Amino acid sequence: MLDNRQIDLAAYWMPFTANRQFKAKPRLFTSAKNMHYTSSDGRQVLDGTAGLWCVNAGHCRDPIVKAVQNKVAELDYSPAFQMGHPDAFELANRLTALIGGDYSNVFYTNSGSESVDTALKIALAYHRVKGDAARTRLIGRERGYHGVGFGGISVGGVVTTRKMFGPLLPGVDHLPHTHNLEKNAFSRGEPEWGGHLADELERIVALHDASTIAAVIVEPMAGSAGVLVPPKGYLKKLRAICDKYGFLLIFDEVITGFGRLGSPFAVNHFGVQPDIVTAAKGLTNGTVPMGAVFVRKHIFDTFMTGPDNAIEFFHGYTYSGHPVAVAAALASLDVYAADGLLTRGAGMAKYFEDAVHSLKGKPHVIDVRNIGLVAGIELQPRPGAPGARAYETFVKCFEAGALIRTTGDIIALSPPLIIEKKQIDELVGLIAAALKTVA
Ligand SMILES: Cc1ncc(COP(=O)(O)O)c(C=O)c1O
Repeated sequence: MLDNRQIDLAAYWMPFTANRQFKAKPRLFTSAKNMHYTSSDGRQVLDGTAGLWCVNAGHCRDPIVKAVQNKVAELDYSPAFQMGHPDAFELANRLTALIGGDYSNVFYTNSGSESVDTALKIALAYHRVKGDAARTRLIGRERGYHGVGFGGISVGGVVTTRKMFGPLLPGVDHLPHTHNLEKNAFSRGEPEWGGHLADELERIVALHDASTIAAVIVEPMAGSAGVLVPPKGYLKKLRAICDKYGFLLIFDEVITGFGRLGSPFAVNHFGVQPDIVTAAKGLTNGTVPMGAVFVRKHIFDTFMTGPDNAIEFFHGYTYSGHPVAVAAALASLDVYAADGLLTRGAGMAKYFEDAVHSLKGKPHVIDVRNIGLVAGIELQPRPGAPGARAYETFVKCFEAGALIRTTGDIIALSPPLIIEKKQIDELVGLIAAALKTVA
């Protein structure tokens, strides 16, 4: 047990955190196992968010812990450029086999943000290598979240992550978001209304001309901006329009990758094959920072031209394919396979759906939406204090023993994929109780 007051909290500038509010009443975790965190005051806290959408197999799983311990003692670091280590190649082979289709190659990064910027650079360079250098425009989507790099915030559509940091990348446009409570409130799974919003890409094409557009990037399910499930037919339509004009389609699967929707990737879940897929988070079960970018064969082959001794893509990170991260990823894939976790969500989705939709009618709840093991619960904002109700619900839940996540007035749930039915009941019960106490 720790007394939070004995810790000097001053120097750490915390990310995406109200620093002064937090430090006045801190919430600290000191350990974790399976579905639970232990807080600094010694309480068990049920993890309703898999950390930050990343601890898909639950916390401190022995095989992953051991793999990391062993690797750091065996090969602490190996240069990433013009050198390699065997495990990095094995992981790439396993990842391409897992996602299937004709995804032939994987580029390693250290985070979701880096995966996104890498994917955007691959898309721009791809057209240039093909001699189509006029294709420089990138199309994102309102309410899209693609991390915090300049590429990611430029194509992203979360206003708070953009407005302080301009000028952003030029030549970017945005599709409209698909959120519409009048049409889709309390949808279960993919909403009926909104597939036609993909046609907005045609409007953007008419405005800019197809010959200027390089790529379209979307999250197949928008997570961070409040769990926006794609309307029926929407993603297939986007794919068709991209095919028609020769745009690359990028799915940002930083959240949806590794079993979140009940399939290994959203690519598998929706049966739509983008040209490039970004991943991170669940890749190492959150244990060590790592990201990855998958490309289809035609992309990789386009780069593999020119003289053999020429570096084909001038991009990479000191820690691309870091041995310890790769060890964590390989062990995570083993755990996912042994426990059947990458498809477990499919079997649990209905129970989870019924449980979260039981919050309909509870105080302040204006929408519940879900897919796989993800749910969004939207609250009516308190007049004059947007976000306050959800934040207070989050604090009450933490105090009562559950970790939830909030964005504005939306609660997002994304528990580890090992969650049991009684833990789903407990999580939803704690949220219902917290909502009753929030004004
Ligand atoms: C879809 C998506 N892309 C990118 C990111 C950024 O990932 P990171 O925080 O690892 O940079 C996130 C993070 O939540 C995300 O949800």
